[in-house]
Amino acid sequence: MYLSMKWIVGIRAAGNLNWSKLNRNESLVQTYLYQMGNGLTVERKKYMRDIYSKYWITAREKIYGFMEYDKNLCNYICECIPKGKKLIGVAVGTGYPFADFFQKAGYIVHGIDISPELIDKCRQVNPLIDCKVGDAEELDYSDNQFDCTYCFHSTWYFPNLNRAIDEMLRVTRADGYVIFDVQNANNKEIYKAYRERLVPERGVKKIIRYSKNICKIILRRGTPDWHNFCYEVPTYPESIYDYFRQKNISNFCVLVKKGDESLEAEGNTGSFKEFGRLVFVLEK
Ligand SMILES: C[S@@+](CC[C@H](N)C(=O)[O-])C[C@H]1O[C@@H](n2cnc3c(N)ncnc32)[C@H](O)[C@@H]1O
Repeated sequence: MYLSMKWIVGIRAAGNLNWSKLNRNESLVQTYLYQMGNGLTVERKKYMRDIYSKYWITAREKIYGFMEYDKNLCNYICECIPKGKKLIGVAVGTGYPFADFFQKAGYIVHGIDISPELIDKCRQVNPLIDCKVGDAEELDYSDNQFDCTYCFHSTWYFPNLNRAIDEMLRVTRADGYVIFDVQNANNKEIYKAYRERLVPERGVKKIIRYSKNICKIILRRGTPDWHNFCYEVPTYPESIYDYFRQKNISNFCVLVKKGDESLEAEGNTGSFKEFGRLVFVLEK
């Protein structure tokens, strides 16, 4: 009851925001949602674990596959890290394509994901991936274990990205790499899509979603989704630069995902507003 109240308040709050006050360097909405306390954080994690996972369990292979961008990320890691080293995929999903690729390429691969269903699937996809259920913001591994900690297509689902970055750094050994991508909130299209996600659903859209849910229940197919809150949040790279500064982290670079899905280093810091996806590479 308490949690439901929290997210009802959250949706109302997001709906009442004055968009013109949004500042480029600080996601007011993000801060606002986080400030509402743990309630929405728990809701977002529950949503990822119980609802989103039912979509992702087939979507990765059927809809997305092994994209050119993913292949470029894999090649990048293979160039940085010698075979035989120990990697961990944070938010590993079904293990396809990244963990599976790395295991077959000769790495020792671990994985962690918030969804038990996805972890079960990951074990089926490749039993040699050593994976378990867990939260990116509280990694159940001891310090300095991995030569590379990577996290792709996932940071925008974490309620507290800084905490996940801390954890990824903690489990990575000295001289190892932490590599993760973010949706760039400075990019017009990314920001527009985010704003649309924040506006509470009303009218026809709401009726359509509710009708779909009822069909799913009657036909006993698919998972009804009654939720209506934003669980996917882009990041301003400036907030990550600030965080790195606070933590005295200077050994990093940013790669941008270009239109042809290739990766290119474009200097260390910037708003990179032409690019929707940025990859942070830190050497610990
Ligand atoms: C879009 S999928 C990407 C999965 C995988 N990285 C891939 O590229 O195929 C996002 C993943 O993040 C996971 N996830 C979301 N929040 C998480 C959290 N707090 N801790 C661990 N995993 C989480 C989801 O369960 C899901 O598997």
